[in-house]
Amino acid sequence: MFSSRLDGLETSDIRKLFENAPPDAINMGIGEPDFQPPEHVREAVKKAIDSGQNKYGPIIGLPALRDAIAARHVRHLPGLARENVVVTAGGSEALMVCAQAFYEKGDEVLVPNPGFVFYSPHARIAGAKPVHYSLKQENDFGLDEEELKKLVSGRTRAIVVNTPSNPCGGAFTQKEANLIGDLSRDHKLVVISDEVYDEIVYDRPHVSMLGKSERVVMVNSFSKTYAMTGWRIGYMVAAAALAEGLAKVHYYTIACPSTPYQHGALAALTGPQEPVKAMVKEFKERRDYLVKALNETPGFKCTLPKGAFYTFPSFDFALDDRELAAHLLQNNVISTPGISFGSLGAKHMRFSYANSLKNLHKGVENIRNATKGLKRK
Ligand SMILES: Cc1ncc(COP(=O)(O)O)c(C=O)c1O
Repeated sequence: MFSSRLDGLETSDIRKLFENAPPDAINMGIGEPDFQPPEHVREAVKKAIDSGQNKYGPIIGLPALRDAIAARHVRHLPGLARENVVVTAGGSEALMVCAQAFYEKGDEVLVPNPGFVFYSPHARIAGAKPVHYSLKQENDFGLDEEELKKLVSGRTRAIVVNTPSNPCGGAFTQKEANLIGDLSRDHKLVVISDEVYDEIVYDRPHVSMLGKSERVVMVNSFSKTYAMTGWRIGYMVAAAALAEGLAKVHYYTIACPSTPYQHGALAALTGPQEPVKAMVKEFKERRDYLVKALNETPGFKCTLPKGAFYTFPSFDFALDDRELAAHLLQNNVISTPGISFGSLGAKHMRFSYANSLKNLHKGVENIRNATKGLKRK
């Protein structure tokens, strides 16, 4: 009944795990901030609804919001203006629009392994072949220049990058961003740069792919920065000619983004940024606790994430990562097996720290109880 493009596509295991969780399990599988959107942002949405802003809006988003988005990123790319911005239904829609707009049947698309669960299926749905490049713990989840250069072929159309990374927590250095920019220019590759965690960085400023090549589309979102995952507002920033093409696919997908929630997004960008700073400060404290605690737990080895809100430790128990996730679930911890993010995620777990320090303490206690008797390799 379905087209062959759906062959082999499965829904991600992440949601399946939640469905089977005991009610008092500590949730370390979470992929969204455990905060609410700031109050003035919520008020802006209510006001928009109450004042009648409930109709279709412009295809590519409210002009004032596109101006505010351009202003937010102008430091990365001088001259950025509303012509460069398309507002979407979350980063998710933006990623799919990029796939439909750029990939042809038979194209190869370089995607990170481990990487966010949408990139390969999007390539497949668009008829292209995902080709994995590796992010390894021993390399601090950074790019392997030699490997990347070898993977580029005459059929490579695009490369998807994600900085900061879900699930690895790696974040680009200037050198890595320049490497991708050079590859893009030398081989005429489109760069789809997923930067939805750009404000959630801990030790050094975010390095954006904007401005590194004319073929960059930056995908971004309000979901994580302003804790509004359920509102579904994101955006793409690209050269005006690219934005125009992307807007066509976007129009035939959703017609236009939600009007009242765009008013919330506008209030979020133009209002006080203290709530974002407070959230990131809290995430940093939790990251420091969790990384130390995992490294002090026999069997786990964890690098320090530079951004986002996930740890991605490797482990040496005599179980695979799905088995370990199931075992942890029986011991009241929800986690995500590394294999969900690609073959190189095997023997890793993703533990999110989008949960209170109190719960993380309890989660670590449960993890330690669950793993202390396990055989190690
Ligand atoms: C790396 C990455 N990109 C994109 C998204 C999509 O986010 P949204 O559609 O809520 O903007 C997520 C959500 O988890 C993510 O982790």
